[in-house]
Amino acid sequence: MVSTEKVRIAVLVSGGGTNLQALIDSQHSGIITKGEITLVLSNKADAYALTRAENAGIKAVAVTRAEAGENFEQKIVETLEENNIELIVLAGFMCILSKDFTDKYKNRIINVHPSLIPSFCGEGFYGLRVHKAALEKGVKVSGATVHFVNEIPDGGEIIMQKAVEVCEGDTPETLSSRILENAEWKILPLATEKVCTMIQNKEI
Ligand code: GAR
Repeated sequence: MVSTEKVRIAVLVSGGGTNLQALIDSQHSGIITKGEITLVLSNKADAYALTRAENAGIKAVAVTRAEAGENFEQKIVETLEENNIELIVLAGFMCILSKDFTDKYKNRIINVHPSLIPSFCGEGFYGLRVHKAALEKGVKVSGATVHFVNEIPDGGEIIMQKAVEVCEGDTPETLSSRILENAEWKILPLATEKVCTMIQNKEI
């Protein structure tokens, strides 16, 4: 049996939320049709991504380590369950999730990473650090990857990748901007739609 109900998506964020914005815009433009963002959850109470969610009329919740302490992940799980979430999209969520968490949501968590995995990924590689490492290595091509999340940081199965040219004189900031615009904002919505389709078709 194939379900036609939209997959209920939670987007987990920590910062500015430009990838979240790309997902919201993709819902409006019809790139995402099989799922609907029904929750945005941030581990930072002041993340601008929460404002983006509110502006789009999406429920926005902060769950911080400072308030939740040892129950941080438990509190996230409770919030996801209360909202009947079926797919979790990590879009600039700067926390590593435990094996218990990733096992519970096997094939139900995807993440966007700002490099071509397996380069410049794993623990310690996040945000501008990824681009700094790529420039130090002197790569001529970088890009972005969307992958399933398992217990190994950035180690789950790859769903989609897009390459982006590194330019002479690039700084971590300029490379980050080019990768966001040309790769992340494009493949994250496409991969989200793909995974929602797989869930609806009960392929995963
Ligand atoms: C994005 O470049 C995303 O790939 C990266 O953080 C940025 C968040 O930007 N995520 C990681 O490095 C995770 N390892 P955004 O808040 O504007 O979407």
